[in-house]
Amino acid sequence: MSISRTLAALGALAAAACAGQPPAGKPPAFGTPVSAEELARWDISIPPSGAGLPKGGGTARQGLAVYEQKCLACHGVKGVGKPADALAGGFGTLNTKAPLRTVGSYWPYATTLFDYVRRAMPITNPLSLTDDEVYAVTAYVLHLNGIIGEDAQMNAQSLPQVKMPNRDGFVNDWPPRSSK
Ligand code: HEC
Repeated sequence: MSISRTLAALGALAAAACAGQPPAGKPPAFGTPVSAEELARWDISIPPSGAGLPKGGGTARQGLAVYEQKCLACHGVKGVGKPADALAGGFGTLNTKAPLRTVGSYWPYATTLFDYVRRAMPITNPLSLTDDEVYAVTAYVLHLNGIIGEDAQMNAQSLPQVKMPNRDGFVNDWPPRSSK
């Protein structure tokens, strides 16, 4: 076969391969259907209202043990920070030149703390805490900020009721005021 005829034959083969469409009516044969169970592992967002918070609960007193084992190395004794973010304090600093934004001074919703800790902490092992551990350590961080008592039970009912100090410190800037 001449070189040009070989190339022509190869070209025809390549064109045939590219034109390969899945047979009509059938989905492409890759991927696997996602199961409800697999989906549930990702479907864990908790909005400010607390909708979807799981069963279980915990107190700051119980959370201290979780904190010491799983958080303290990065967030410091009583959440003072170093090497990672401070989790407590900073009250009254937001309108200064050195604002210290912590869960206590800055975050508007306690439910976000549950969501964040469950999905992201400890940063080296996310999604490893039980729901009770997340509730307990959430309670502990709220207690460090003086927001709840040491024995206040945090659960799906009580956590959304916690009013964070900076709840009203945000403005809704949409639509932008200038567009009016
Ligand atoms: C190995 C270090 C490490 C450990 C252990 C760890 N964290 Fe963190 N944490 C971080 C880092 C780093 C950040 C900042 C992440 C970012 O900004 O993306 C962070 C951020 C946070 C924040 C957000 C702070 C803010 O105001 O932005 C919270 C809340 C938090 N961690 C709670 C916890 C809790 C509770 C535990 C224990 C269950 C824990 N962390 C364990 C490293 C750690």
